Order: sequence, then C-alpha cells, then structure tokens
Amino acid sequence: MKASVIICTFAVLILGIALDVKVCIAGITSKYIRRIEASGDMPLDSPHFYVPPGYNAPQQVHLTQGDHEGQAVIVSWVTPLPAPSIVTYGLSKGHYDHIATGSCTYYEYYNYTSGYIHHVTLEKLKSDTTYYYQLGFEASARNFSFITPPEVGPDSPYTFGVIGDLGQTYDSLSTLQHYLNSPGQTVLYVGDLSYADDYPFDNNIRWDTWGRLVESSAAYQPWIWTAGNHEIEFSPAIGEKSTFKSFLHRYSTPYHASGSTSPLFYSIKRASAYIIVLSSYSAFAKYTPQWVWLQAELAKVDRTVTPWLIVLMHCPLYNSNTYHYMEGETFRVEFESWFVNAKVDIIFAGHVHAYERTHRISNVMYNIINKDCTPVPDDSAPVYITIGDGGNIEGIAGVFTEPQPEYSAYREASFGHAILEIKNRTHAYYYWHRNQDGKPAVGDSYWLLNRFHAA
Ligand SMILES: [Fe+2]
Repeated sequence: MKASVIICTFAVLILGIALDVKVCIAGITSKYIRRIEASGDMPLDSPHFYVPPGYNAPQQVHLTQGDHEGQAVIVSWVTPLPAPSIVTYGLSKGHYDHIATGSCTYYEYYNYTSGYIHHVTLEKLKSDTTYYYQLGFEASARNFSFITPPEVGPDSPYTFGVIGDLGQTYDSLSTLQHYLNSPGQTVLYVGDLSYADDYPFDNNIRWDTWGRLVESSAAYQPWIWTAGNHEIEFSPAIGEKSTFKSFLHRYSTPYHASGSTSPLFYSIKRASAYIIVLSSYSAFAKYTPQWVWLQAELAKVDRTVTPWLIVLMHCPLYNSNTYHYMEGETFRVEFESWFVNAKVDIIFAGHVHAYERTHRISNVMYNIINKDCTPVPDDSAPVYITIGDGGNIEGIAGVFTEPQPEYSAYREASFGHAILEIKNRTHAYYYWHRNQDGKPAVGDSYWLLNRFHAA
C-alpha cells in the first residue's frame, strides 16, 4: 500500500473515532486464520483439572455478583461429600472474622450424581475493598480473595473481560491463561460453558472438570453468567426432560434482585455499567415472562447513574458467519427496536465460534409489508460483538459469508477473549485478543463513545 493511501486511511479512521460516525470503509475480514481442525478436550487427569488434596476439600470455586448494586458476592463450590455451607471471610489474609451460611444442593443426570454444590451469599460488603475468604476445614481448608467493585456511579472506571463458548480444550486453556494476565476485573461470560453435552449421554463429569479449570479466575473475581444452548441439556431419550438442570444447580445468579422470575435473565449494576443478561433459549415472545421483565427493566435504567448499558445474550443478532447464520433473527425482530430506543451501548453474544464486530446499524423499519429490510447506519444502535471464540471442542467457525456485509466492521476466525475498559461516563476502550501462536495479540480495537453522554 502506498504511503499516501496509508496516511489517508489513518486520517479517516482518526476522524471517525473522534466523531464516532460511520466511517465509509469496507469491513475487515482478517486474513489470520486459526487452524480449522477442532482440538480435543484435555484429558480427565490433566493437571489443569487439578483436584485439591485433603478430605472432602472444596473444589470448583466460583464467584458471581450477589445483588443488584455490587455489594454482595455469591460464593459457590462443590464438595464430594456432605459438608456445611459456610464461608468465613475478612479484610486480611487468615483473619476471618465474618461468617456467612448458605445452602447446598445436588442433582442426578442420567447415570451421573453430582457432588454437593454449595451457594453462600456474602452481603453488605464495602466498596472497592479486598476480601479474603476461606472454604473447608482444617487440613482441607482453602483460601481465596476478591476485590469488590467501586460504588455504583457515573464516573467509576471499571474493566470487564469478555469470554464465550470456552469449553475445556488446550485452546480454552490458552484463552483462560491470556485472560488471567489481563487487567480484567470481572468476566462477562456469554454462554456455553463446559460442552459436557458433546459427550455420549451428556457426561456431567465434564461439568466438574470445567469448574476446576476456570477456578483459577472464577474463585478470585465474579463471572457474570449467561446461559447458552449447551446449557439446555434436554435429552428425553435418556430420560432427561427438564432444561438447564446442571447449569441451574451449579451457577447461581442474583435474579431476584432485579425483579426477574428466572435465573436465566436478570440484571446487575457494577461500577458505571448496567448489565442486562438475557436468555436466547427461554421464551421471549410478547407477554412471556422474559418479554415483560425486559420491557420494565429497560425503563428502569438511569444513565445518569450507570452511563454504560450493556446487554449479554448467547445467540448473536448480527453475525455474518455461515455457522448459526440467522439463528438470532426472531430475537432481533422482537427486541432490536427496544435496544435502539434505549441506546444500548454494546451487545455481546457468543454461539458462533469466531470473532466479529459490527458498525452501529439497525434494521427496525421492516414491517412485513414494506421492503425496508436492510440494516442502515444508526447512531442510537448498539455495537454488536460476537465472541464465541473461547476455544471449545467443536473448533473454529471458519467460513464467513461473502461478500462481507456492510454492517460488519471486523471479523476473524480465531480463538480469543476481549477486554472492555470503561474510562469514564463518555469513553470506553475495547480490544479483542486472538490466541496467536500461544501468545495474546490484539486483533481488533475500538473506542466507544457512550450513547447517552457522548453520542
Ligand atoms: Fe452456542
């Protein structure tokens, strides 16, 4: 490329970032192609599925936010045998002067019986404070820590990680290890966790190994859970006629705090962000519980308190990969106008095992009798990011539709994770890392201007 062209392109990009307008450049389809073949899951005896030593030692420790404001944390873990659901905690390591108790559950799935799954909520925590906590007893006790978020407010900076469709392969491990070296403070997880259902009879032992794999992060910072299709586990042929059984037993969400009637859709505030988690695989048509809840929920958001409005779901509404193409279309038709009217800043989804970011576009004019069914630039619309590229056993979704649609800004068939750095009420910096040759490399980056305060 000639120097003059490079300078011109750079100038246009800078101008576009400054104005946050739609820059009329073609979308980018990255030439970097992660190897196409799927990698198998790590073996059951992998050291990355390490079982902690000691009698009935707690394992699969994970955190999530426990209330609406970020002043509570749900601590969850599994013990092979019955044990008290007790967390001791305090403000210095080894000095646990607080105690919280919770509940214990277990479930059976086909010929599998889970361990004892504990959920304990720590409440009324101080903001922006490191807490140390202990699970288990005597020689089997285990110690961890976490940092609470700053108070909810319009100028509280905060850094989120974004991971989806992780699974438990060596590629999954690479994504997780890269994330552990990132500045992420909380993970926005966009669904499809263990991929246990890719095994004959849905081998739930793979839920246990996944829980032990992600403990290195999830025991130390909250992961905000979204349910994906691999969480449904509806298998009537083997007598499993309920849905989301393993996920709902293992992964708590604070859904009561946002007035939701289902743990599969809920909201939280965290620092300067308002995060709405939706369920692509729960009823969402007009008058259903999710539809009614979301309508009320969007009306509750006060952007002067939480400037950043972020929505998580599993199935993307805009995606130009050939895999899962159009699967989110009914959800888009139902809710896109709501997201545009609410000026949602960004929508993260997974499901497609590749990476893609859109321009701000909408397609809300279509009404079945007109012909206005093409996405058009819209400054009120969210940026849609598909990030189902954690690295699971099913491999990469390596075939994009051609030509690249105008709405698609960047797409690449690689595994990776993203970081969203909220700087203040007007600006956030977003960047996506690919797992390139085992090393993290920035593949895409983007300055977001807040839709309420800066658009
Ligand atoms: Fe999926």
